[in-house]
Amino acid sequence: MIDEKKRESFGSRIGFVLAAAGSAVGLGNLWKFPYIAGKNGGAAFLFIYIVIIVCIGVTAMMAEVLIGRMGRLNAADTFEKLGGKKWKPVGLAGILCTFIILSYYSVIGGWIVKYFFMSFTDLIEYAGAGKTGEIFGAFVSNPSQVIFYQGVFMLVTALVVLFGIKGGIERSCKIMMPMLFLAMIVLIIRAVTLPGAMSGIEFYLKPDFSKVTSETWLAALGQGFFSLSLGAGAIMIYGSYLPKTENIVSSVKQICFIDTAVAFLAGLMIFPAVFAFGAEPAAGPGLTFITVPTLFAKMSGGVVFAVIFFLLFFVAALTSSISLLECSTGYFVDHGMDRKLATLITAALIFLTGIPSAYSLSGGLKIGSRDFIDAAGYLTDSIMMPLCSMFCCIFVGWVLNRELVKREATSDGKIGFGSFNIWMMMVKFAAPAAILVIFFTGLKW
Ligand code: TRP
Repeated sequence: MIDEKKRESFGSRIGFVLAAAGSAVGLGNLWKFPYIAGKNGGAAFLFIYIVIIVCIGVTAMMAEVLIGRMGRLNAADTFEKLGGKKWKPVGLAGILCTFIILSYYSVIGGWIVKYFFMSFTDLIEYAGAGKTGEIFGAFVSNPSQVIFYQGVFMLVTALVVLFGIKGGIERSCKIMMPMLFLAMIVLIIRAVTLPGAMSGIEFYLKPDFSKVTSETWLAALGQGFFSLSLGAGAIMIYGSYLPKTENIVSSVKQICFIDTAVAFLAGLMIFPAVFAFGAEPAAGPGLTFITVPTLFAKMSGGVVFAVIFFLLFFVAALTSSISLLECSTGYFVDHGMDRKLATLITAALIFLTGIPSAYSLSGGLKIGSRDFIDAAGYLTDSIMMPLCSMFCCIFVGWVLNRELVKREATSDGKIGFGSFNIWMMMVKFAAPAAILVIFFTGLKW
């Protein structure tokens, strides 16, 4: 059934790094990180976050890429191939997790598409009249509109995945990631040169160690895992397309560096503008779709900056969604299905699964006290991702043969990996323990 020889691969290491960094850089970086940092002690939080990424994030990502490259299959078959039938459910859970994440990620992706188009036309006008809250409320409570744009977003995602690893994912990320950096730089320069920008930078970065508690460490751990896209098999399947000769260790360090740098820079883009115009610092959709447009309305050249801003969000979301779609598509491709057909079928199924999420925004569908879309997010972020990531670490640390792991990590001894023993200790003990803590403290319905 599975022909490994014909398996696609990335054309270059930089292609892999940019694709995986694209998967990691997403809404988590742009709308969650700055706010969590600002609220949790500024530079003090940043310091803790970096410690966690370096110690735990890099460790866990390396484990995921390594499993992927060793197995050279989709997550489910990789686990079965390397660890036997009893490990297959972990891989299947990973694929299911990406399926669910994409079902609601595409709903938000659709909002971004809508706002990107609106920023060319009447968004700034509405914002000037103080109507962004109304416009946003009217849009999200109109299911047919939301579903339409969700479909557009899924279609674009599918169009990239359709062309395969090298021709679709790698090629598009090599264009989109530099675009993302450029857009951020333009927006940061605009933001920090506004009069009054300094108070925003102060809110964001002023170190306040008195705000650091055990909760801060937990917030940093949870955010770190989410931001690096760990525990969903997305990084794993990209690893399975990485040629055997490429250096896993330095690639993972670069991916983690890019993800952290973008998260940090997002704060420098948002807060100076928020404070310069006396708005409220906040996180999430409210900030992006309600607050920020009003800031652009007050800025000269606001339309141009609004277009760049929503383009940035679109690129960040798209490079994440293509990795999410590839997880399910890759499964069917490994089982012999034509890539184009596999892409269209999985994209259509995910789109349909997302419809209840789209509906739930108008207040209809609830599970317990949560909107459907919230409940789906809770299931993936707080339960499935941490558990899958923990099993990845345990798998590498305790199940796989240590010699084989070493050979894989060093490309048969050709690549130096001086801290291999330390990394093994981290994978065996520190990372699973840290993840378990996030898991149990995150369980709040
Ligand atoms: N890391 C993404 C972000 O920061 C979100 C995400 C979480 C993700 N898990 C994922 C993306 C798995 C792709 C695959 O927004």
